[in-house]
Formats: sequence, structure tokens, C-alpha cells
Amino acid sequence: MEEIRAVRLTEEDELFILDQRKLPQEEVYIVTRDYREVIYAIRTLAVRGAPLIGIAAGYGVYLAIKELGDNISFDDFYRSFTRVKEEFANSRPTAKNLFFVLDLVDRLIMENRILPVRKLKSKIRAFVMKIEEKEKEASFRISEFGSRLINKKSRILTHCNTGSLATSGLGTALGIIKMAWKSGLVDMVFVDETRPLLQGARLTSWELEKLGIPYRIVTDNMVGYLMSKGLVDYVIVGADRITKRGDVANKIGTYVLAVLCNYHSIPFIVAAPTSTFDFSIEKGEDIVIEHRNEEEILSLAGCRIAPSGARAMNPAFDVTPSRLVSFIVTEKGVLEPPFEENIERLVL
Ligand code: MRU
Repeated sequence: MEEIRAVRLTEEDELFILDQRKLPQEEVYIVTRDYREVIYAIRTLAVRGAPLIGIAAGYGVYLAIKELGDNISFDDFYRSFTRVKEEFANSRPTAKNLFFVLDLVDRLIMENRILPVRKLKSKIRAFVMKIEEKEKEASFRISEFGSRLINKKSRILTHCNTGSLATSGLGTALGIIKMAWKSGLVDMVFVDETRPLLQGARLTSWELEKLGIPYRIVTDNMVGYLMSKGLVDYVIVGADRITKRGDVANKIGTYVLAVLCNYHSIPFIVAAPTSTFDFSIEKGEDIVIEHRNEEEILSLAGCRIAPSGARAMNPAFDVTPSRLVSFIVTEKGVLEPPFEENIERLVL
């Protein structure tokens, strides 16, 4: 399967970021050595999807600390790192993977504080590359494990984009679909448009198109109709943060899908690497939900669609309680209810 690399650090330390705001019309890259541009790319969704946000932030932190002089003291180095870490942490609050990577880099620095700054820098570079590689492996394992849950040629509905544009590999939910398709188990993929930023219509369809996987884009409000007509065999989605007891924050609209699946007895499958789990949070209500600019609702493709003076609400994610989830697929295996117990056993 063709590999799309949405983020790539070159030998010369230039960061290439595929600008997802411009897809599918234009395939252009942001090329930068400036960490501020990486933060801006994350904030504006030029780079997006929980695992990829983490990886981009890791490279961004590396670019930031690379700017520091080699002769500064460790304390000055760490003070600068903490400031940059904070800036990245404030870019998007919901995806755990961002904080996962920032905290890992923090720990690496503390553990290697005796090293000269120059060596610390190259250690961080290699470390982030390793994280990227591990996430790639994780999405491959998730795709393998998850595809085994599909037991007949199926019609699968997915939400948002969880493919190579959201990870460093095949993807999570979309990785499962790609793998299942390879095994002849996909009849049709229903791609939720995913209002307001259309990650489904613009990005998931772009990935499926490249692979020749049959799909139909549907608007988010068509899913009830499809299910009531018996046209959906599985719903597979990704996650931005999963709590200790298995509550799942994911792209706005996911909760509606889970409720509908429950009503229609359709398996509702969540796919995510263990870097998405947050063991410091018990229940979904405690997950910080990003609220984005209301302009994203009031306009479509740069064109105002609401009357002037109209106001909107724009929560970017919602939370699905674990009781509505059938399976959580991780790189370590497939979790079934009771999630709290099984998460602890498999993931921790
Ligand atoms: O706002 P986005 O596009 O970053 O939201 C992405 C999602 O909600 C994905 O489903 C999630 O991050 C998982 S990506 C493997």
C-alpha cells in the first residue's frame, strides 16, 4: 500500500508538513525550520489527527531547542524547553498524544541532564524519530488486529480522518479498513463528511481514492437513514483521548454514531494507539474539549453561509461513554468490556 508521509524531518533538519488545509485540491508542503510555524500548523489543522499532532510537536520542540546555543547551561536549556513545551501544549488541548510526546521528551531531557547541550539535542532528534517509527508500527498492528474483527465482506462507516494523514503509518480506524480491504472484506466504505472542517469528505476520500477502495461520502446527518436501512455493518472510528475506564473523546459527531449503533445493534469499534490513553483521567467528563472559532461553522470553503450577525457553537470533539463501545483496538491487542479492568491489564 502506498505510503503517504504527512510529516517528515530531512537530514538537513527541514520539517516537511503536508498542508492538509489545502487537500484535496492542492498537494503542497510547508517547509520550515521554525517551531512557531509548527505550532501554527497544528493550531490551524495544516497538520492534524492525534498521533500526527504528537509527532509534529516532537519535531517542533527539536527545531526550537536546536536554535539554542551549545554553550548555555542545563538550567537555561531546560527553562527554554519548558517555555516551548508550554507553547505546544496550548496549541490544541484534546489529543492526548500531544502531551504524551511532550512529556516523554521532558523525561528524556531530565534523564540526560549531565550530557552537554549539543549531545542532548541530537539525543532528542533521534528520540522523536523513534517515536515516529513506533507510531508507524503501532498503526500497522492496530490495522492487523482490527481487521480480524471483520468477519464478512462488509459495509463500514467511518468518521473524520484516521489514516496516513493522521498518523505516521497506515492509520488507525482507516488502517483497519485498508487492511480489511486488502483481505477482500470491504464492500463499501461510508465516509462521514465530518462538518465543519470536512476531514472525511476532503481527506479520508483522498486516501481511499488513491488506493482504489470503494467509498461513498455521506453527510453526517444521513447516518441514521443508512443504519435504519441495514446498510452499515460496522462503524470504526479513531480517538483523541481515552480515559482509564474507556470513555472516548473523538471528532464531534462520534457520540451520535455510537448512540445510533447501540440502537441498531451495530458494532461500534474504536481504534487508537496506547499513546492516546490518559490514565490520569477516570471519566470522559473530565476531558478538556477544544472549542474552535465559530467562523468555521458560519462559513463553508471561505464563503459565508449564515446571515451576518449569526452566532455559532463549535466544540471540535465529543465524548462517547465506554458502555456504548464494542471494542477498542490498540497495538497491544483488542479490548472488550469491561474496559476499565481490561485496559489496566492490556495497556498499563
Ligand atoms: O480535529 P482533527 O482533525 O485533528 O480530529 C481528528 C480526529 O478526531 C481523529 O479521529 C483522531 O485524532 C484520531 S486520528 C488517528
